[in-house]
Amino acid sequence: MNILVVNGPNLNLLGEREPEIYGRGTLRELERAIYAHADKLRQRVRFFQSNHEGAIIDELHRNRKWADAIIINPAAFTHYSYAIRDALLAVAVPTAEVHLSDVENREGEYRKISVIRDICVHRFAGFGFDSYLKALDAFAADRAERKKNKKKKT
Ligand code: DQA
Repeated sequence: MNILVVNGPNLNLLGEREPEIYGRGTLRELERAIYAHADKLRQRVRFFQSNHEGAIIDELHRNRKWADAIIINPAAFTHYSYAIRDALLAVAVPTAEVHLSDVENREGEYRKISVIRDICVHRFAGFGFDSYLKALDAFAADRAERKKNKKKKT
């Protein structure tokens, strides 16, 4: 199973950016934790981070044939980027929305809004790095379920 992991703006500064909210782990450490967990689940991962909306959209397009699933933390784009929403609809790959922080229970009413929530098959927020690992687990469980159902039919 091939999984594209996309991180949006300001997540390159993980570790130094508002550590009381996002923790002290860096993006490199996050990617290493995802890689190790994915390896256990026999999933292949590709990572991408950008501070630019168009670059994120290009990367989603580029991986549309390769990816069986997408894990995306669009960061602030979550709250208003219809262009990223449309790109996810265009590539039509099952997607998990993830957030490090508990976006529902933070300062800023706008953080409660997600313009991609309804088109994602999974959503994990508020678990730090584990939000991404939970998404990997969820896709592994979906795959196991599909296999079971296939067997039942034959
Ligand atoms: C975030 C939450 C967003 O509201 C914020 O703009 C981010 C990070 C998170 O992972 O908790 O940049 O997506």
